[in-house]
Amino acid sequence: MSDLKIFPMSFTDLEEVMEIENLSFPQPWHKSQFKKELINPISFPFVGKVLHNGKLKLISYIVFWLVSDEAHILNIAVHPEYLRRGIATELMFFSMAHIQEMGAIDIFLEVRSSNVAANRLYKSLGFKDIGLRKGYYENGEDAIVMHYELMSYRPNVS
Ligand SMILES: CC(C)(COP(=O)(O)OP(=O)(O)OC[C@H]1O[C@@H](n2cnc3c(N)ncnc32)[C@H](O)[C@@H]1OP(=O)(O)O)[C@@H](O)C(=O)NCCC(=O)NCCS
Repeated sequence: MSDLKIFPMSFTDLEEVMEIENLSFPQPWHKSQFKKELINPISFPFVGKVLHNGKLKLISYIVFWLVSDEAHILNIAVHPEYLRRGIATELMFFSMAHIQEMGAIDIFLEVRSSNVAANRLYKSLGFKDIGLRKGYYENGEDAIVMHYELMSYRPNVS
């Protein structure tokens, strides 16, 4: 979706972020978690917005941490009405380019083994499964640990 505009997340975004978070996850983050990310110096929360009836509407967000030469994707979600339009892909490309510019090499993330959409999204971007955390989630579900090496990343620009 070429008209997605990406901005650093701000406190005034939190109401719309929480609406998407609650619609997207069985165990959503609490608002206080987003507030912590907004003041955490190693955290990089961004939002994606589109023009809707002449106003910018928040439809997606991503949160990642940068620690030394490693980045960790902590959260990404897209409003249910905007799925399968390439929005998560665009946010991930943006974040990967940003992470690379800041000098990191490795990107890690954890994903529920049952989350087909997210697993396919990350695979489509070139992430590889590198491990399993048994019973990682509150319902006993396993987490798949995924990795991307940025040395091989080439932004998809023409
Ligand atoms: C996972 C999520 C962020 C994907 O967002 P999205 O904007 O719909 O993803 P994209 O349109 O960029 O999809 C890119 C590719 O991922 C895969 N994919 C995305 N959603 C999928 C689905 N429901 N089923 C199967 N594959 C899917 C496809 O390969 C897709 O490419 P295609 O549409 O050309 O086939 C979104 O489904 C979401 O917000 N889910 C709830 C929150 C969540 O699970 N976050 C991830 C936590 S680890």
